[in-house]
Amino acid sequence: MNLSGNTILITGGTSGIGLAFAEEFIKEGNTVIITGRREDRLKAIKDRLPQIITKVSDLADAAQRIELAAWISENHPDTNILINNAGVQYITDFRKAIDLGKVQSEIETNFIAPVHLASLFIPHLSSKQNPAIINITSGLAFVPIAFMAIYCATKAAMHSLTLSLRYQLKETSVKVFEIAPPSVDTELGHDRREDKTQTHGGIPVGEFIEGAMAALKNDEYETAVGQSAGLREKRESIFDRLNSMF
Ligand SMILES: NC(=O)c1ccc[n+]([C@@H]2O[C@H](COP(=O)([O-])OP(=O)(O)OC[C@H]3O[C@@H](n4cnc5c(N)ncnc54)[C@H](OP(=O)(O)O)[C@@H]3O)[C@@H](O)[C@H]2O)c1
Repeated sequence: MNLSGNTILITGGTSGIGLAFAEEFIKEGNTVIITGRREDRLKAIKDRLPQIITKVSDLADAAQRIELAAWISENHPDTNILINNAGVQYITDFRKAIDLGKVQSEIETNFIAPVHLASLFIPHLSSKQNPAIINITSGLAFVPIAFMAIYCATKAAMHSLTLSLRYQLKETSVKVFEIAPPSVDTELGHDRREDKTQTHGGIPVGEFIEGAMAALKNDEYETAVGQSAGLREKRESIFDRLNSMF
């Protein structure tokens, strides 16, 4: 994939992986549009990086997804790449009553939104030069951590969806990529931690971006970065060992 001269929509660009991709793609000479719910974050990013385009949008809301697609085709018709990156990660404990609202919002953000956005954007992307959809999944798509049951199921669903999308679009110009990050040190899961300075650890985001950009450059359609590769290779055989750590 050509890493410069694109117009790229990144969902969830207010922190972590989405923001790091945005910064890297700007450096490489692309026009970058980021979305997120936190308007103050988007404003602070715009103050620091004036060339970035920002849009407040809650992807868990279908009406806002439709509005985002209409806004893109009206204001940024050159958009040729969609990166489905926005995600949330909650804990689900089936030994207690589950919070169905939380489950629905996790599935809506991590899975239904990318399904809907793919459908909304494919007609637009198909008419552009070098179009692509890039889905950010996870090593946990291949081996779940049980206490993040719904999160991991959404990522497994995203892996499966990516295979189907790529197959269905194989006769079109739209390339479909999957990037499965390992544990990366971002804000993911902050909303479930009392101590907001605590993270779940993982590799520095810059190290992840380096691996992801190299894979995109080489047209590797499915990339498991770092330790995710081990999870993909071993899949269920690693399940017990992984879960005994938590
Ligand atoms: N970090 C890891 O270890 C890891 C590993 C594997 C996969 N991933 C995946 O990488 C992606 C990015 O996560 P991250 O690690 O960078 O976490 P992060 O720092 O928490 O970033 C998540 C991004 O998603 C956005 N977002 C969440 N809900 C949204 C909604 N309803 N509408 C619009 N935007 C929303 C957030 O923006 P607002 O809060 O401003 O809305 C934020 O910009 C996720 O899909 C995650 O599952 C991360």
